[in-house]
Amino acid sequence: MSDQGKSHGRHVDEFSGVETTGHEWDGIRELDNPLPRWWQWIFWACVIWSIGYWVVYPAWPLVSTHTKGMFGYSSRGDVAKAIETANAGMAGQLERIRKAPLEQIRTEASLREFALAGGRSAFAVNCTQCHGSGAQGFKGFPNLNDDEWIWGGTVDAIAYTITHGVRNTEDEQARASDMPAFGRDQILTKAQISDVAEYVMALSGSGPGGQPAVRGQAIFAENCAACHGPAGEGSAEFGAPALNNTIWLYGGDKATLVETITNSRRGVMPAWGRHLDAATVKQLAIYVHSLGGGK
Ligand code: HEC
Ligand code: HEC
Repeated sequence: MSDQGKSHGRHVDEFSGVETTGHEWDGIRELDNPLPRWWQWIFWACVIWSIGYWVVYPAWPLVSTHTKGMFGYSSRGDVAKAIETANAGMAGQLERIRKAPLEQIRTEASLREFALAGGRSAFAVNCTQCHGSGAQGFKGFPNLNDDEWIWGGTVDAIAYTITHGVRNTEDEQARASDMPAFGRDQILTKAQISDVAEYVMALSGSGPGGQPAVRGQAIFAENCAACHGPAGEGSAEFGAPALNNTIWLYGGDKATLVETITNSRRGVMPAWGRHLDAATVKQLAIYVHSLGGGK
């Protein structure tokens, strides 16, 4: 670069007649053309627009906050407002669910959909640790997808079971009925328990039948039929599961049956009406009822 232009003062390009800036590279000089009009207009428009923007919108960072702008706009505020609106809408639906009878929630499409969604998420939080993430159950914790119900499968019966729980000490109206511990309390001998277990296996179609099962049938009629039904069909009134099928709460093999009959089981479920609000319990009832086996 040479400072020729500067040292000689103003220098005018002889071809274009435009003054040069004084910058020169290998004999090529830079013309000092003014900026194009359109460019200047856009430049000033941007400057004016940005000043307006600084005034009305949040713009400049300060030490611990920022300039808020005249409009007081905040995208976070927008989100908060959107959530508030959604919550208000939900509160309306929850209020309707709180007031409506279960049958109406079950049959009215918009309420039902809302209840199913709410029930599903409440189930994931409160119930899966015992009943499994797919409500498939575990040993001692019933599968809620099938159509076998220990305590009844109508939506009202399910709502009652969820509200008051089973054999807990926190709710006087909890489902309660205790199968005697036939062995521990010496109501039946070991041999009798073995026989009646054989009969239960025959009832469910898994045992060989034969003499032990025949002896067991008489023991069953005397000691078990009152709760489990004459044909082992079960009774929701006593919370006694059906024994004439292959759906087991604890298990249908001989050893497990002998253990159940000897000591009984007495599973416990909390009274959810004491831990969850009424609308949530209703949504849970609708959800559980929808799982497949609702009556
Ligand atoms: C601490 C473990 C536990 C939790 C948590 C639990 N349950 Fe249960 N639930 C049980 C047990 C045990 C039984 C079976 C009791 C029995 O032997 O009759 C049961 C039974 C039921 C029944 C009756 C099933 C039938 O066949 O009649 C329903 C319905 C039910 N639970 C729903 C729920 C819902 C909904 C939740 C969540 C809000 C829940 N449970 C959470 C342990 C639990
Ligand atoms: C007072 C009512 C009652 C009587 C009587 C009774 N049971 Fe039960 N039985 C129940 C209840 C309630 C359950 C549910 C399990 C629990 O939580 O104890 C049950 C559960 C069972 C189970 C477990 C079923 C499974 O799915 O795993 C078997 C097996 C069973 N009973 C067999 C018998 C036999 C055999 C007798 C007679 C010797 C008998 N019960 C008498 C109430 C009764």
